[in-house]
Amino acid sequence: MLPEGCDIMNAMSKKTVTKAVFPAAGLGTRFLPATKASPKEMLPIVDKPQIEYAVEEAVRCGIRDYIIITGKNKRAIEDHFDFVHELEDNLKSKGKQSLLEQVNRFSHHSFAYIRQGRPLGLGHAILCAKPCVNDETFAVLLSDDVIDPAYNLLREMIEHYERLQSPILALMEVSPEDTDKYGIVKAEPAGDGLYRIVDLVEKPKAGTAPSNLAIIGRYILTSDIFEHLEGLTPSSGGEIQLTDGIRSLLSTRQVYGCIVRGTRYDAGDKLGFLKATVELALKDSALKKPFRKYLIELTERIR
Ligand code: UTP
Repeated sequence: MLPEGCDIMNAMSKKTVTKAVFPAAGLGTRFLPATKASPKEMLPIVDKPQIEYAVEEAVRCGIRDYIIITGKNKRAIEDHFDFVHELEDNLKSKGKQSLLEQVNRFSHHSFAYIRQGRPLGLGHAILCAKPCVNDETFAVLLSDDVIDPAYNLLREMIEHYERLQSPILALMEVSPEDTDKYGIVKAEPAGDGLYRIVDLVEKPKAGTAPSNLAIIGRYILTSDIFEHLEGLTPSSGGEIQLTDGIRSLLSTRQVYGCIVRGTRYDAGDKLGFLKATVELALKDSALKKPFRKYLIELTERIR
């Protein structure tokens, strides 16, 4: 009897993840001039802004608290997740009840907005979330990394966290000529698509990367990361890097990486954004038929 009881106690004492941080205070320079006065996170892919894909991913995992790090020119994000009274009468009178439900479906979730005064880097943006996160484990979702909604990467990462009670980073193999665009890990296979992180470096110079395993924009982080972010100085690109904080965290605890097994789009980059738009439009029930027809005709024309 006792071992069984112990297992239950053990499982109950293990923590899960109920908070998510969405850093959205970056300048989005790769999308200028579109991002001069509008948030990059609000650029639509098919009919939803990028950040909504990330929030939906977190909703599917049972996340209860949504913490968005905002900055200058980012007010549209707050409005987007708010209740829109102005549309209510209009859509109701036109019999568009389901559209109304869709636009207001996030309004009952708990959103907190924290302003990052200056975009000092991703590590600094995460540190801004400290007063809302307190001592809990939290997910981080970068909305310009769009994950195919059919693939539940975050759920997989949370399950790894529940089992290991250690931070989990999403990892993807990239070609050797692209390693200078990412945080790159040195890691040892730990079975079942997991890696034990040995070291990590932000945007290593060509030819110096410790592997071709890149960190992409999904993390499960324990609250002790904050101690390691405090006091960091700017490094790669003159920014306070999350990678440096995790590197420092490695001296006190085990960190794991989880290989991304589904499709991820780099929507922070113009080509990646276009690929995400085309591929997600081809999965949209209303658009896929006419859009596919159009793409076939277009291919013939530009051949
Ligand atoms: P990026 O490295 O993609 O930077 O940030 P960016 O400013 O958004 O875009 P580019 O490179 O200039 O085109 C990754 C994520 O971290 C957030 C961004 O909003 C994005 O979600 N971020 C970055 C912050 O919240 N604060 C920062 O100081 C930097």
